[in-house]
Amino acid sequence: MPTPPPNPHLPFGDQRTAPWYGKDILSVKQFSREDLEYIFAVAHEMHDMVNHVGTFDLLKGKILANLFYEPSTRTSSSFTAAMERLGGSVIPINEVKYSSVSKGESLPDTVRTLECYADVIVLRHPEVGSAAIAAKAARKPVINAGDGIGEHPTQALLDAFTIKEELGHLDGLTVTLLGDLKHGRTVHSLARLLSLYKVRLNYVAPDILRMPAELIDEIKAKKIEQAEYTTLDACLPQTDVLYVTRVQKERFSDEAVYESVKGAYVIDPQVMKAARERMIVMHPLPRVGEISPEFDDDPRAAYFRQMEYGLYVRMALLAMVLGKA
Ligand code: NCD
Repeated sequence: MPTPPPNPHLPFGDQRTAPWYGKDILSVKQFSREDLEYIFAVAHEMHDMVNHVGTFDLLKGKILANLFYEPSTRTSSSFTAAMERLGGSVIPINEVKYSSVSKGESLPDTVRTLECYADVIVLRHPEVGSAAIAAKAARKPVINAGDGIGEHPTQALLDAFTIKEELGHLDGLTVTLLGDLKHGRTVHSLARLLSLYKVRLNYVAPDILRMPAELIDEIKAKKIEQAEYTTLDACLPQTDVLYVTRVQKERFSDEAVYESVKGAYVIDPQVMKAARERMIVMHPLPRVGEISPEFDDDPRAAYFRQMEYGLYVRMALLAMVLGKA
């Protein structure tokens, strides 16, 4: 969408100097390394502000529409918390069955409606490309909170921030992505985003859930070292970040096929004996058996901390697209 003209009556600052003002966030392909440094720095400030004052008025009077056509706990509630911590408010549309979507309203019409009442729209939808369709219809910024098996850019940004905060840097790391790499939008976005750094990427998946070949080619073109495995033992000892994912049951047309792969990998204290002492285990959550709760007390288990980092990154993104960062 075109950047709206600056508003001379703005209470703080000059939006013309805010490069992300009015922009959509649809794919991680939009971000450079410099953008990530900037987002991490703003997220850091958000962390400090939340810890010192809790809630503050940066986005006072601004409204976010949270439009979710698929289930969500973390993404939807962290966007709500982020907006409210910044003094703004939220129109939640989690149960589209209670909205006019159930009467057959199209996505562009729903988005055109919501932008009459809100300043930014966060959208989760089961179809790849839906966020781009919504952004085309909307004058206000649209943030992709997951478009089917496509992308989940804000998750990848918070994942990268988690790695930076926990391990101090991204260059030089070996990151192993495990689980449903075919349908997992979080790993699609994360692999793309990490290709901005000098990382090695390992993909561990059952044969039918391998990372899509087009994505591997795209990342290969950036000269990133990649390797595919069907078992974890070959690459776990060299891994700095083990990123575990759920087998995405809702993306299977045949339940028997899902059943055949759902328990393919289980991370537990026994398996993790082969891993480094200084490394982290991440998961976008929800988990459905692929990480044993017995591992939760291990200091390497970063998946609960990862959710908190998500709040700060989403605060940073909202402040950026609304011209206040
Ligand atoms: C993920 C998603 O929705 O893609 N969850 C999330 O946003 N934290 C992962 C998943 O559902 O498995």
